[in-house]
Amino acid sequence: MNKGLRFGLAAAAFAAVAGTALIADAQAPQIAARQEVMKQQAGANRVIVPMVRGEQPFNLAAGKQAANTLVAAAKQIPGAFGPGTEGGNALPAIWANKADFDAKAKTLEDAATRLAAANDEAAFKAAFPAVGQACGGCHTPYRKPAS
Ligand code: HEC
Repeated sequence: MNKGLRFGLAAAAFAAVAGTALIADAQAPQIAARQEVMKQQAGANRVIVPMVRGEQPFNLAAGKQAANTLVAAAKQIPGAFGPGTEGGNALPAIWANKADFDAKAKTLEDAATRLAAANDEAAFKAAFPAVGQACGGCHTPYRKPAS
């Protein structure tokens, strides 16, 4: 192998590695951003769940506010898993079944919207299980199980 060719191959290999790193770097902020959206949802649930379980005094205004956080977060989910943002704990099945994945985000949005519309404690408590099911209904098929 002549020197020029060897250099060319080495440069191509380097470019391939650097290219991969660039792609990974470009995705990292998007993955971190969507994990932040998910953390907002977990934060809202930390307000709601103890009230629904009776471990904290029920506060309708605080519950509605947390429900609205869930609505806003759910609306961001489809766009947060855009083309070429595979990674994190997101399973590749998302991009193979994007319409179904987006429908599961809509299920959460609708359930959270009904929760935010609840006008008393009984209605709020009755509306919450559908929200919890919407989280799990998407995590089971589309998120890597916690290791
Ligand atoms: C439409 C699908 C979908 C719905 C609905 C959904 N999630 Fe997620 N969630 C995911 C996926 C996919 C990940 C992994 C994201 C990643 O690592 O890139 C995730 C990750 C998370 C994480 C970990 C974030 C981190 O720091 O890595 C938390 C917490 C979470 N979700 C909470 C919730 C809660 C609470 C709800 C319901 C209120 C919810 N999610 C609804 C798909 C969903």
